[in-house]
Amino acid sequence: MADKPSFFISTPIYYVNAAPHLGTAYCTVMTDVMARYKRSMGYDVKFVTGLDEHGEKVQLAAHEHDMTPQQWCDSLAPDFHKAWEELNIAYDDFIRTTEPRQIQAVTHLWERMKESGYIYKGSYDGWYCVHEETFYTETQVAHSDEENHTEGQHLCPECHRPLDRVEEESWFFKLSAFQDKLLALYDERPDFVMPDFRMREVRSFVEGGLKDVSVSRTSFDWGIPVPFDEGHVTYVWFDALLNYATSVGFGNPDMADEFARRWPAQYHVVGKDIIRFHCVIWPAMLMAIGEAVPEHVFAHGFLMVRNEETGQGEKMSKSRGNAIAPSDVIQMLGVDGFRYYFMTDCTPGEDGAISYSRMAQVYNADLANSWGNLVSRSLSMCAKYFDDKTPQLDSWEEATNPLRDIAEKIVGSYCQAMDRMAYTDAREAVMELIHAANRYIEETEPWSLAKDEANTDKLASVMCDLLESIRISAHLLCPFMPETSAEVLRRLSLEDEATTEDLLASCVWGGLAQGVSVTKGDALFPRLVLE
Ligand code: MSP
Repeated sequence: MADKPSFFISTPIYYVNAAPHLGTAYCTVMTDVMARYKRSMGYDVKFVTGLDEHGEKVQLAAHEHDMTPQQWCDSLAPDFHKAWEELNIAYDDFIRTTEPRQIQAVTHLWERMKESGYIYKGSYDGWYCVHEETFYTETQVAHSDEENHTEGQHLCPECHRPLDRVEEESWFFKLSAFQDKLLALYDERPDFVMPDFRMREVRSFVEGGLKDVSVSRTSFDWGIPVPFDEGHVTYVWFDALLNYATSVGFGNPDMADEFARRWPAQYHVVGKDIIRFHCVIWPAMLMAIGEAVPEHVFAHGFLMVRNEETGQGEKMSKSRGNAIAPSDVIQMLGVDGFRYYFMTDCTPGEDGAISYSRMAQVYNADLANSWGNLVSRSLSMCAKYFDDKTPQLDSWEEATNPLRDIAEKIVGSYCQAMDRMAYTDAREAVMELIHAANRYIEETEPWSLAKDEANTDKLASVMCDLLESIRISAHLLCPFMPETSAEVLRRLSLEDEATTEDLLASCVWGGLAQGVSVTKGDALFPRLVLE
């Protein structure tokens, strides 16, 4: 373990005000795909996800359900575990902010902040949105009111819900002192925020000037106490952001080695709505206490539901009645189909316009007709012509394998795309091989070759070309569709390969096991018939 390079990646920790939904599932699958890919590239991956359990929003949800906040969190946490299990999310750690390790870490953060001189006591008088758990300035509120044509009732610039007026004693974090340091960070590391256009947004926000942020609350008590000031609890974001560091041992003397090895994180995957917290406040907090900042924050877009009449993407919400439940999609596409669709049809980084008809289209085109069909045709021909075994070739290296060039070319472009979470490009690379292999079947007509024994060698090499293309495609698709890729490798008697830690070696042409049993099996992706 120790000699493998560490790769630490996280999802946001989700609020426990509601059950997991498509948006949180999207972010979690996106992170899981990267974690699986990096494991296959030989990294010692730590993938952490979890729950953001403090704050007013959670406290309110608990009260509405006549529970204490802790009871409420405990009652919802299993839903998240279950949802991620169902989606085959292979996380290594699940953190809840009410755990003792987080309380220890946040307490430590306060002490370090106090030593740093970057916090001070004052009082906050301004606007607060409980839904967003965010403070807003008068200017932000005025702009929002103009845009939303409200009078009297001030609405949240983000979610348009009514704002609360808050007046309370509070500790402040001197974010304003970090403007130059943050701009220097963005200059030095332009890929700190990905994709590029998000980096530009963050930069211009910081260039516009930064205000100090209130980081403790006194008007309610569902939070981690400020160790040196009774009556103050930690502002939920000041607590939540620290979870990443907590999960690798921040503030825990017994985990100092782990923290040194794992920190900073390579990737925080977050939604575009929370980039200011992750790309401005979080690095400033780390700078304040002298810790390294994460390597990348990847901001994904929002899943929008495509309105079939207007063709426009609409925000998903229960009140509009257009919310799509993850379980409905899983029922339609299967778990691997779910993962494949959201990861390859919506460009990570941009908003995605999703619809049931598009899901069916992508599933049928890529999975049923292309990938599934290639596997089932090739494996059944192989089983039929070679007695349920993979062919044995005397001269595999010399065999005609026009698919080899494509396979060799795409592995490089696939890896480049995966490394920057450009999953749609990675899909294109793999599909190039799959489409070429399907065409190859039409061109070589194995069924005609099989009619004449004189063609047995030719038939064997054609089959090996196809099976080898399938083997490599299964590897490359594995982060997206772990179950079906493992099944394909099993059908080729290569089950051990599914957990490869050396993807590049596994994708070298010629790794097919010869003369071993091949299983035809059922269709991996039965075609969807649309009403
Ligand atoms: N608790 C904070 C995160 C703290 S991280 C230190 C939070 N939680 S959340 O549950 O509200 O949202 C979590 C993530 O879900 C966000 O990254 C958000 O962008 C994402 N999504 C919520 N709805 C979404 C879509 N419709 N589409 C894609 N992602 C969306 O914010």
